[in-house]
Amino acid sequence: MRITSIRAFCAGLLVIATLVVPHSFIRAQLPAGPYIHEAPSAKNAMVASQHEIASQIGVDVLRRGGNAIDAAIAVGIALAVVYPEAGNIGGGGFMLIRFPDGRSTAIDYRERAPKAATERMFLNDNGDPIRGEGSSTVGYRASGVPGTLAGFDMAFRKYGSGKIKWRDLIRPSREVAQRGFKLSKRFADLFVEYKGRMEPYADSDRIFLNRGRYLKEGELLRQPELAATLSRIERAGASEFYKGRTAKLIAADMKANNGLITEADLRDYLPVERTPLVGDYRGHKIITMPPPSSGGVVMLQTLNMLEAFDLASMDPASPERWHLVIESMKRAFADRAEYAGDPDHADIPTSWLISKDYAATRRASIDTAKATPSSAIKFGRQTPDGSMDTTHYTVVDKDGIVVSNTYTINDLFGSGVTIKGTGILMNDEMDDFTTAPGRPNLFELIQGERNIIKPGKRPLSSMTPTIVLTKDGKPWFAVGARGGPRIITAVTQTVINMIDHKMDLREAIDFPRAHHQWLPDSVRWEPVGLPDRTRRELTAKGHNLIANPGYVASATGIMISKDGRRVGVIDRRSDGKAIGY
Ligand code: GLY
Repeated sequence: MRITSIRAFCAGLLVIATLVVPHSFIRAQLPAGPYIHEAPSAKNAMVASQHEIASQIGVDVLRRGGNAIDAAIAVGIALAVVYPEAGNIGGGGFMLIRFPDGRSTAIDYRERAPKAATERMFLNDNGDPIRGEGSSTVGYRASGVPGTLAGFDMAFRKYGSGKIKWRDLIRPSREVAQRGFKLSKRFADLFVEYKGRMEPYADSDRIFLNRGRYLKEGELLRQPELAATLSRIERAGASEFYKGRTAKLIAADMKANNGLITEADLRDYLPVERTPLVGDYRGHKIITMPPPSSGGVVMLQTLNMLEAFDLASMDPASPERWHLVIESMKRAFADRAEYAGDPDHADIPTSWLISKDYAATRRASIDTAKATPSSAIKFGRQTPDGSMDTTHYTVVDKDGIVVSNTYTINDLFGSGVTIKGTGILMNDEMDDFTTAPGRPNLFELIQGERNIIKPGKRPLSSMTPTIVLTKDGKPWFAVGARGGPRIITAVTQTVINMIDHKMDLREAIDFPRAHHQWLPDSVRWEPVGLPDRTRRELTAKGHNLIANPGYVASATGIMISKDGRRVGVIDRRSDGKAIGY
């Protein structure tokens, strides 16, 4: 559908909604997101991902008797082929799983710093951040040791159904890489937009930029080297990536280009199984990702602060509601800057941060009449007696296993480097470490001492795969997002919209969002996202609304309705497709 007709369609929807909705909301205008997606519902199972081919590959696995874990692995491999801006085998992420018997687990397959990494590796002799090749955001040194295949392998061995073979999870995607798939307009445009990142690297330039003769919408993107890599992994398993020919190719290309990742780094990579964080918001259990993601902690802190306010009685588009949400985010992000990092390398006071008592002290400084400047907000002190980028997909199977998976190569198209002869696009996750203390990273985040670079350490993340239960403990919805630190605020706002404002998942995800991350001291808001009165009143309260609004992340999720149907939702801010059966 053309954008103009989409807008006309949205305006029509808005008029209908205004006529049928009984309460007197200020009525946020709908964000002018360029996409309209159906929210299909299905009796048995559902996959919601950012590419139709990937969702279809996942559903095929489920139909053949695979469970949600099998399907999630197949979807992840497929996105590495059809969604190269973020889908990957050259990056890492987090897989959150909840089983029907109530157990849950989290597989941390985040990248790790190479053994030769050092605290000051991204600073020049003057102590300033290195730019371009050699920096934390682009080129060979920007990559952490990838974890995706090791994480998928762990998930498959421990929690796969046993009914589907590993090779059958890889084969469909290998075939797509071989024969090619049709490019959407968005992708064709994105390759041109990101040419500066990929052009300097011969394999990226050839595969994704077609050596400057950019592929057009509808043309086939073929990835023969990636197909060959997947073929080796299909036959020999994930260990081929870490110990086989692929490992040798990665290490050789790294060595030839001043990169740090060696065969020993790959051989020694290990994913970690972690206990998920479980919080409570107004009687609903919130299951989410623990450190090294900051996502779960910051979300639970924000929700805990908000719990004392009667958000349900407020119009979700009103300045009163936004003020409280923004002030809570600000405080939680100030703590992120100080306390967050890899729990295997630094002492992270997670249980204190997510406690209701701590939220009460943090909340006490919120002035309902005016914004507190970020300069006046410091991280909280634990008293001795105190107790864009990235992609998310969700799978729910017929037995009720829920998988909420977010993985990433950080920036779109990662470091821009495709390892010679492998088709593997590498991450630039080293930028998620504190690379230059006191200075903002790619996402303008200021990060702390606990997140400095150390060999083998995992960089801090904002990825927030989350599963929310009904008050009687059944899975209700699972959601996650892409968009750096905005992932956290997008997931948090989806939770508030569902629980406080009684929206369904479709509305909760599409509803306008705002974002504040403590520093910079400004509120990101969405095109036509805030009604004029809300904007005026937030400004009058002292909030700095950015001059040019922009989207706040993009979410994907599945809701299980009261009659057990699985409803798949893709954010209108981005592309994708939910498919069920
Ligand atoms: N690379 C973005 C994140 O993990 O937060």
